[in-house]
Amino acid sequence: MKVLVIGATGYIGAPVGERLVAQGHEVAAFVRPAADGDRQVPGVADVRYGDLADVAALEKAITADLDAVVHAGQLTGDQDTDLATIAVLAGSSKKVVYVSGVWVLGETDGADEDSPVNPIPLVAYRDKVERLVIDGGGSVVRPGVVHGRGAGIPALLRAQAARRGSGVYVTAGGTAPTWTFVHVDDLAELIVAAVEKGEPAVYHAVSEEAVPVTAVAEAVARSAGVKETAEPWPLGEAAQELGEGFAEALALSQRVSAARTRQALGWRPARPGIVADLVEGSYA
Ligand SMILES: NC(=O)c1ccc[n+]([C@@H]2O[C@H](COP(=O)([O-])OP(=O)(O)OC[C@H]3O[C@@H](n4cnc5c(N)ncnc54)[C@H](OP(=O)(O)O)[C@@H]3O)[C@@H](O)[C@H]2O)c1
Repeated sequence: MKVLVIGATGYIGAPVGERLVAQGHEVAAFVRPAADGDRQVPGVADVRYGDLADVAALEKAITADLDAVVHAGQLTGDQDTDLATIAVLAGSSKKVVYVSGVWVLGETDGADEDSPVNPIPLVAYRDKVERLVIDGGGSVVRPGVVHGRGAGIPALLRAQAARRGSGVYVTAGGTAPTWTFVHVDDLAELIVAAVEKGEPAVYHAVSEEAVPVTAVAEAVARSAGVKETAEPWPLGEAAQELGEGFAEALALSQRVSAARTRQALGWRPARPGIVADLVEGSYA
């Protein structure tokens, strides 16, 4: 298949491009141009330039030679623009795979692919985006917190621990939250499987359903070489530093199943879990 990857320079999009090529597919990339000229994407010859805020540029990039589009780009934050972008994809007659996220489910102690959504403000209207994709015949992939290759949210937590001298976790009070995780290379495999055989449905990219954030904070501290403790960071204080929306997302407690996804796509995540990745893997 020939697949256009939106967000091909990103943490998730780059491994998706690599995996597509490894599976024998052809990749094109939709990329924002640099201020001083065009950008190259490693391993991709067919680069199409545009911004997701420019719906016409995206329309132009979706050419007849494409079979599928993976959207692993950030939303612009403007609801009308983002819904217009998704409408272009949904109406394109290409196989569409949209990368959403489990935060659209809100606080939950046991959600699966059929559970109702309850998006927090940071991902408000993402449920509408998901609906548009599925109604247009596409697939929605919801990753948990993504780790691997020494980057992503765990790298931010590691920098935070190094600065503060101990492991911390954001909490709104009460019991410490649990988070869901997926390794970025297991995620890339799932996204490519969804391109190849996904139905108009939601898929959960979660290999660890509910890891206590205290265990994550301690492992982060070990990886950063600071005091191996997990200290609560009250939501209000974290919000001042990280912004309200992101802090609220980090305080979410979730347990999310991917049982149906594993079965439907034959997905077998095999990379190390978050704690092993932090203490002896890509963050060590
Ligand atoms: N990382 C996680 O833990 C995680 C978990 C669940 C869901 N997600 C979701 O997965 C998606 C991708 O996340 P990520 O972690 O890979 O993010 P990322 O590393 O920030 O990558 C985002 C990609 O989107 C591109 N992009 C951003 N704004 C754009 C615009 N206006 N026009 C064109 N391209 C644009 C970026 O291009 P530039 O190189 O030009 O910036 C980059 O290639 C997001 O929707 C995110 O919410 C992420």
